[in-house]
Amino acid sequence: MMKIKYLIFCFASLSSYRLAAQTGQDISIGTRHSSLVYTVSGNQHIYQRYLGKKLSDTASYTVMKAVHNAYPGAGMGDLFSPAIRMIHADGNPSLDLQYVNHESVKKGEDVTETIIHLKDPVYPVEVALHYTAYYDEDVITSHVEIIHKEKKPVLLTNYASSFLHFDADHYWLTQFHGDWAKEMNMEETELTSGIHILDSKLGSRADMYQSPLFFLSLDHPSGENNGELIAGTLAWTGNFQFLFETDTHNSLRISSGMNPYASEYHLAPGQPFVTPEFIFTYSGEGKGLASRNLHRWARNYAVLDGNKPRLTLLNNWEATGMNFDQGRLTSLFDGAAKLGVDLFLLDDGWFANKYPRDDDKAGLGDWEENKKKLPNGVGYLVSESGKKGLQFGIWLEPEMVNPKSELYEKHPDWILKLTNRPEDYFRNQLVLDLTNPAVQDFVYNTVDGVLTRNPGLAYIKWDCNRMMTNTWSPWLKEDQSHIYIEYVRSFYKVLDRIRAKYPHLPMMLCSGGGGRTDYGGLRYFTEFWPSDNTDGLERIFIQWGYSYFFPANTIAAHVTGWGKQSLKFRTDVAMMDKLGYDIKVSDLTPEELQFSHDAIQTYKRLSDVIWYGDLYRLISPYEGNRAALQYVNESKTKAVLFHYLMNPRYKEAFGRVKLQGLDPLKKYRIKEVNLFPGARSANPDQDKVLSGELLMNIGLNCTAGRQAPMSSSIIELTAE
Ligand code: GLA
Repeated sequence: MMKIKYLIFCFASLSSYRLAAQTGQDISIGTRHSSLVYTVSGNQHIYQRYLGKKLSDTASYTVMKAVHNAYPGAGMGDLFSPAIRMIHADGNPSLDLQYVNHESVKKGEDVTETIIHLKDPVYPVEVALHYTAYYDEDVITSHVEIIHKEKKPVLLTNYASSFLHFDADHYWLTQFHGDWAKEMNMEETELTSGIHILDSKLGSRADMYQSPLFFLSLDHPSGENNGELIAGTLAWTGNFQFLFETDTHNSLRISSGMNPYASEYHLAPGQPFVTPEFIFTYSGEGKGLASRNLHRWARNYAVLDGNKPRLTLLNNWEATGMNFDQGRLTSLFDGAAKLGVDLFLLDDGWFANKYPRDDDKAGLGDWEENKKKLPNGVGYLVSESGKKGLQFGIWLEPEMVNPKSELYEKHPDWILKLTNRPEDYFRNQLVLDLTNPAVQDFVYNTVDGVLTRNPGLAYIKWDCNRMMTNTWSPWLKEDQSHIYIEYVRSFYKVLDRIRAKYPHLPMMLCSGGGGRTDYGGLRYFTEFWPSDNTDGLERIFIQWGYSYFFPANTIAAHVTGWGKQSLKFRTDVAMMDKLGYDIKVSDLTPEELQFSHDAIQTYKRLSDVIWYGDLYRLISPYEGNRAALQYVNESKTKAVLFHYLMNPRYKEAFGRVKLQGLDPLKKYRIKEVNLFPGARSANPDQDKVLSGELLMNIGLNCTAGRQAPMSSSIIELTAE
């Protein structure tokens, strides 16, 4: 199952050649099914000619008039929002980017980077537009490099990673917004004339209120399987901005990149300014195809070990909070072993001595084991869990500090805060000044230290429980407006060092729930924590939302005590993504324990299909009282259907569920799995062998005898 594209990508021989296009000549960036075409105009500007479905006759694109500047600089003729704005060393606020040449670099089996070089005729400023086309995945990413040779620094106030143009009659924007414990609420609106912005200004938590991703549908709202759209997202764990501007001709421009808010950047001569990658896929067949494209791309290229297995785990956070000691923890190992998970994850509360971490008011920053709680240290827990056949993982929040901590006392100058105003706390904590190399060393050493002292540690949950407010960096001095950008770059620097030493250690990206969820971070992480809300009903919506942009093996989903639904329902919800547990195993009845143990075995058996298969969202929870989704493996020999009845009305009738993505000619055996010990499937098609054609056109009856609110089923389909 495992793909080797990444390796091929790394070792592929690179070939590059620079071309000078003639006026009117096109530069084409193409994937298997989509094309982005630029052309060089008479005035040496680059214009976007076409973005959409790839056509068999490329000459067809020339009927499209190329009128939209690919990367307009401010201060010249363009009348709407610019892609870039620069104030030169002499105070001149204009930039005129003209075509120099372009090159095409083969970066892997199906990966080609096209770089278009532009420069200003008056000022020594060069801008390179980079487009990387992932042919098989139908994904294009783009970023920009800006460099100058002026005598003094220039001021950059806008620096889009991507600037795309559309011409349609109507534009429909789907965005996702949220807050703690209610992440990823989907909303679709028609864009009207003027500017609509999706952004974040929270600094360290890119996904807290507004998620860094969107769908933009052309002409009509798009469905799962119909409609023309792009799905876009930014690989940046910080402030982002997507700006949608519909002009007087009803043309739409989308400017995507780091948020220019409070982020004017003084760029020194000769120092390249590299923007993060904007990622997008075009789909002419609705959101479902766009998601499958992104999932495949993410697994092959964007997520750490995207095509490798994940560990099931038992976390102690919901069971103990910070109220534990060595004895209590080791007593939980038996439960974890009985459940049959791979790993025990020790959460917050294990560290700090002068100000013990017994609640969230103290200790953050002091990363030594608390001697009272853990007299024999973490190493003892690693070895004790090992005796039960469990791997061991640990929680860290290394970018943050409680004022009640030794770290705060020792290094007041390592903290982001305004010195002449009261400190502003969120969860009783402050953010460290990661732009300071000494703080980067501290964060690196915290992680490296815990891993070196405890060589058996097999997993890290990396948390980030606050955003930035009242921010001032002692390190950056007069460059305070660099803080949002440099913080994220520094975060990546630390992660680069960690990954150089620990290339494959599984790590979960967490931020008080799903406050930090983006492809910039996922280069370093194997999974993310989507929400602290683990109520089964809420999680259907939350996980559904994330599924539009992230593959199942990155979406951690734990069975906990949240929610009034049955254990079966909560387990069925967690199994649609990356299954884990956060419960008191000792509270389970023998039947519940047996059920959970069997569920983990079933999950392990089916996880190849769930993690690496194609996702089809069949019935949306946004549209009625039930939800259904399905994964199908590449060879279409195995599929798994998840079906959830939420709050059906009295005698509400539900039709059959039409499956998708199967082979119409294959025959599939239907088997409801994940039943409670002793329970029998009520599905009338249980154990029948039905054709893919029937299943996709007539469907499966998933509700016969199962009308109860909050009831669910998982159905395994195996080709015979
Ligand atoms: C955050 C996380 C939780 C837990 C706590 C510990 O809120 O989202 O899962 O780790 O921190 O303090």
